[in-house]
Amino acid sequence: GLVNTKEMFARAIKGGWAVPAFNFNNLEQLQAIIQASSNLKSPVILQVSKGARKYANPTLLRYMAEGAVEYAKELGCNHPEIVLHLDHGDSFETCKDCVDFGFSSVMIDGSALPYEENIALTKKVVDYAHQFGVTVEGELGVLAGVEDDVVAEESHYTKPEEVVDFATRTGVDSLAISIGTSHGAYKFKPEQCTRDPKTGHLVPPPLAFDVLAAVEEQLPGFPIVLHGSSSVPQEYVDIINKFGGKLPDAVGIPEDQLTKASESAVCKINIDSDSRLAFTAGVRETLAEHPEYFDPRQYCGKAREYMVDLYSHKIKDVLHSDNKL
Ligand code: G3H
Ligand code: 13P
Ligand code: ZN
Repeated sequence: GLVNTKEMFARAIKGGWAVPAFNFNNLEQLQAIIQASSNLKSPVILQVSKGARKYANPTLLRYMAEGAVEYAKELGCNHPEIVLHLDHGDSFETCKDCVDFGFSSVMIDGSALPYEENIALTKKVVDYAHQFGVTVEGELGVLAGVEDDVVAEESHYTKPEEVVDFATRTGVDSLAISIGTSHGAYKFKPEQCTRDPKTGHLVPPPLAFDVLAAVEEQLPGFPIVLHGSSSVPQEYVDIINKFGGKLPDAVGIPEDQLTKASESAVCKINIDSDSRLAFTAGVRETLAEHPEYFDPRQYCGKAREYMVDLYSHKIKDVLHSDNKL
């Protein structure tokens, strides 16, 4: 069956790698995630957002995730470690619903709340979830949003002096922190970046590794999570733009920084946008080259191939979670 995050996080921290947390809301994404993680013998976290549950139907998603464990075995992975995790739970009720619905892990994102309210809400979710062996991720520090005027402003970073108090008083199993990542395909404004003189591509400022180190010093060996960790691969952006898309100056987190983070206390890395880009690149390319196609399997099949490549690359070359089962 599905497992919680406890054991895999302990192994990941010890071994200096990170568990991939991939969002899914449709069949092809799920197939691609399971194919890549099974072939490479990687633990994997299937993340479902509130929006994904609304889009795909909670019951269908639940059984898809449970079916994924059987599918992994069919693919020759005899001991799959698959987590079904609620991404960005926004209330006690949403988290409770997911616990009751068979999720093995939930996130309660109280990061936008005042500190004491974040603690109270997170503790309430922990107290409920732990009765059922469900692990809980909390968050301290605010990730800049795509719409925010101030992107990755320093004052949004996690305050290292708060993490011990937060972790002890809430009892969370892992902590998401803010060190300069953000959600989506536009993580930095062009004026925050420099430009590669050869390619003209944006080069983003580095993540705040000093904040990560300070957090780790406060909470040695504690599982740390990075959201907003898509790298926005230029090859997919180029394909999308070549075949009718318009994603000017999309920019993500360079992969070497994600590897560096996963070698330290970071043991879960969240990736959603990159999968969306791979999917869209596959669809746009196939439909542009084959205007006669109208069977979704033709263009979704290509999208799935691109996603398998993407997930495999993340597992093998970036997070080093392969051969860990
Ligand atoms: O953190 C957000 C994830 O990328 C999920 O996004 O709410 O659009 O499903 P979503
Ligand atoms: P990206 O938008 O960088 O893929 O982040 C995904 C995420 O953090 C999901 O919680
Ligand atoms: Zn997130």
